[in-house]
Amino acid sequence: MNEMQFRRNRRLRNSNTLRAMVRETSLHKEDFIYPIFVIEGENIKNEINSMPGIHQFSLDRLMEEVDEVVALGIPSVILFGIPEEKDAEGTGAYDDEGIVQKATRLIKEKYPQLVVIADTCLCEYTDHGHCGIVHGEKVLNDPSLDLLAKTAVSQAKAGADIIAPSNMMDGFVIAIRQALDAAGFEDIPIMSYAVKYASAYYGPFRDAADSAPQFGDRKTYQMDPANRLEALREADSDVNEGADFIIVKPALSYLDIMRDVKNNVLLPVVAYNVSGEYSMVKAAAQNGWVDEKQIVLETLISMKRAGADLIMTYHAKDAARWLEEK
Ligand code: PBG
Ligand code: ZN
Repeated sequence: MNEMQFRRNRRLRNSNTLRAMVRETSLHKEDFIYPIFVIEGENIKNEINSMPGIHQFSLDRLMEEVDEVVALGIPSVILFGIPEEKDAEGTGAYDDEGIVQKATRLIKEKYPQLVVIADTCLCEYTDHGHCGIVHGEKVLNDPSLDLLAKTAVSQAKAGADIIAPSNMMDGFVIAIRQALDAAGFEDIPIMSYAVKYASAYYGPFRDAADSAPQFGDRKTYQMDPANRLEALREADSDVNEGADFIIVKPALSYLDIMRDVKNNVLLPVVAYNVSGEYSMVKAAAQNGWVDEKQIVLETLISMKRAGADLIMTYHAKDAARWLEEK
């Protein structure tokens, strides 16, 4: 065959330098948001069984983790709280002395420049484990909005830089936006879990946050994994309601959705590389079946390639270290 008749795509792969020059996507520590679980109590640093390397921290030990995150140059954390007591209305979520509020004040006092994101939901605080208030087996939409709005305002008062509502009630963005504005927090952005599927990949998180539903499942509010157009409808409502960021969650099995959202929305898109995705990689790596560093970096770059501007990931600390080595 005449060599001039086919293209030599390998030419641009011939050296490290050349590969770096033509690389289309890149991964930086500034892309990462690191999730932290805070729990009431003392002297607790509790490793989650299904999430090796991830712990619940009591407030007196929280700074061990935050110091590390800051030293690694990760710009942001998202906080999840495990309260002392739960009740039907998730009171702990909107208590000014709630666990996330106290953690936020503590972190912001030491690190004013660290971007603290508050996950705004009720499931960690309700005794039934649902993300809204329930009547019988039904999760009520509009009555839940008031509680979510109160939670957001309480978190903003504590110093949260960004509010991240994850409850999937209809109208949660506008309800929270109006409440924040009315309380004088016009400048606090909303990072909406706009596109959130009802996923088995949240399993390990529900151990970590003690937030598994006590009856039924979340399929009446989280999305059906079979749906694609619905993701655009969800993203569209949140854009119209004033969201500042759009989260797609989970990430890895939904990279097609990430690209759809990126192409249809003018806001920054955030990938949530969820607990189950983390646990699968850790389990395989611990068995020596995959190379953890290579597989994590490949996974994270795939999310950037699919359109994510930012990535919430439990791998953030490791990935930040590995990127530094390169
Ligand atoms: C709470 C919430 C969940 C996650 C983030 N916020 C769990 C759920 O909806 O059941 C999942 C995160 C993860 O799996 O890492 N609404
Ligand atoms: Zn929830």
